[in-house]
Amino acid sequence: MVTKEILQSHYREYAAQPEEWVANMAATKKSIVKCVVEELNYHPREKVRVAVLGASDKRYLSIHEKIFCEVFCQPVEVVTYDLDSKHLKDAGNVVEHDVTEPFPQTGFSVVFSHELLKFLTPSEQVQALRNAYHALQTGGIAMHVVHAPSLYGTAELREWQYRVDPNHLLENVANEAISGRLLRFESESNVDWLRETCVILFEKR
Ligand SMILES: C[S@@+](CC[C@H](N)C(=O)[O-])C[C@H]1O[C@@H](n2cnc3c(N)ncnc32)[C@H](O)[C@@H]1O
Repeated sequence: MVTKEILQSHYREYAAQPEEWVANMAATKKSIVKCVVEELNYHPREKVRVAVLGASDKRYLSIHEKIFCEVFCQPVEVVTYDLDSKHLKDAGNVVEHDVTEPFPQTGFSVVFSHELLKFLTPSEQVQALRNAYHALQTGGIAMHVVHAPSLYGTAELREWQYRVDPNHLLENVANEAISGRLLRFESESNVDWLRETCVILFEKR
């Protein structure tokens, strides 16, 4: 797990990002969620409950909600789990929680993480995938999104961040009868390193 000091500096960096950057991230995220939902032909029948794992800046809270509302064409309930809630200005739908521990709530239709895994050591990555899967309702989906820096350790990966090996993670959780697969595609992003996309995907049967 990364230190509090590193996280504080990460939050400051994200808070300083201009609106154009945030708008591009929003478009990138939406294209990814849309692609996964279309690929799975996923149509939740009941009220959609989404758990988002980590948000680096307050602006992403409403962005995540808007994306899921628009993709599912219905109101959604979003809870964000983050180690820290202060940088998210203690918003009402944020729960301080370490995702390497079992989630405090379950029954989610969707669990979504975007570039979270690089904040975790390889064994913590397995714990997070496991906990996310167990928090799903039957028929729910968990999508963990990673890009080239996490996959290949390219220049954008900070020295304190960890590589992600999706096949190795799938093998590890398969030992616990958690079966997932990978989806690989190009997101719609203006930023080179956000384009190549790998989604570690689980559907709860
Ligand atoms: C989801 S990631 C998003 C990173 C960003 N989008 C990027 O591309 O670099 C960052 C967030 O995850 C949170 N986080 C890191 N480790 C966590 C953990 N073990 N449990 C919960 N949240 C965590 C951090 O506090 C931060 O707000």
